[in-house]
Amino acid sequence: MSHTHRILTGDTPTGNLHIGHWVGSVRRRVELQETHDCYFLIANLHAYTTRADAPQDVHRDSIEVARDALAMGIDPEKAAIFLQSEVPALSELTYLFAMLLPFNRVMRNPTLKDELTVKGLADNYSFGFPLYTVGQTADILAFRAHSVPVGEDQVPHLELTREVARRFNKTYCGVPDKALDEDHESLGGVFPIPVADVGKIGRLVGTDGQNKMSKSLDNTIHVIDSAKQVKQKIGKIYTGQDSRQPTDPGIIDPDENPLFQYLDVFVHDEAMKADIRDRYERGDNIGDGEVKMLVADAINELLEPMRERRRQYEDDAVVLKVLKSGTARAIAATEQTLDMVKEVAGTGFFARTLTLN
Ligand code: TRP
Repeated sequence: MSHTHRILTGDTPTGNLHIGHWVGSVRRRVELQETHDCYFLIANLHAYTTRADAPQDVHRDSIEVARDALAMGIDPEKAAIFLQSEVPALSELTYLFAMLLPFNRVMRNPTLKDELTVKGLADNYSFGFPLYTVGQTADILAFRAHSVPVGEDQVPHLELTREVARRFNKTYCGVPDKALDEDHESLGGVFPIPVADVGKIGRLVGTDGQNKMSKSLDNTIHVIDSAKQVKQKIGKIYTGQDSRQPTDPGIIDPDENPLFQYLDVFVHDEAMKADIRDRYERGDNIGDGEVKMLVADAINELLEPMRERRRQYEDDAVVLKVLKSGTARAIAATEQTLDMVKEVAGTGFFARTLTLN
């Protein structure tokens, strides 16, 4: 298949993937890999913004994320899944792009500001922390990606990326000041101006029934959870003060109950869903227990093939082999961009070929 529309996206490795990742991003990637030239990055260098003192953990988490992504259906024959730290062009472009961005512009990024607040870093963050946002522009532009499937929180990084691309094209490729974004490539710009492809279903609520599903809150369901663990976790979901027993009378709004987000996302039988909702609303002999059972079964149905696939990747050597071939593809793509960049930016003197051993 020949695809001209390139897609790049990535994650900072934080450990095993959970069904919140599936709903928020991986599911979409599994679709996109069928029709697009896809690159999926494991942002292990970005992980050093907060974990520079835990290199072995980051190393292990990088492999774990790859293993789970493969289990979830990322197909290494179709998409390239690769390690940020093993693609030199990404760091090289970060250096150059940092020169094109006013320092104050980088620091104005709302997602960056949020992270510094949430992580309680105040004035104690590394120089590399804000630099990671510039690194992310390099991750994207190194592939001359056209679109970047991400969550809402990443949109400011995409805006920064678009600014870098425009500035580069204008400064080094003679693209006129007033050029429209979509004309940059045809006007001789090295970079297409990438767009953020923001997922509709933002975030799955966690099994605490309250917060976003997230490792740090211990409210997750992982691909590696057994069928029994899934049942237990769903069984414990707190459904609010209105937790319903089959015998409870009265009208209840299902949208107040976090279980119904799970029902919407994981159960595909629309008629059955409508019936459950209707009975629940009216208090027609249905409690949370019945909904929980349906949800747990549906999640197990989704996870079963993933558990199965995960077994093929149990051995680190098998995962590393996939990562190596993905990284080789990423190197080939980004070296090509780097050649184009160096030629116009005046930094190119010699040709080079990179190989992995
Ligand atoms: N910042 C992203 C996150 O933490 C990870 C990331 C790094 C990324 N480089 C990227 C996402 C490039 C999209 C494109 O989730």
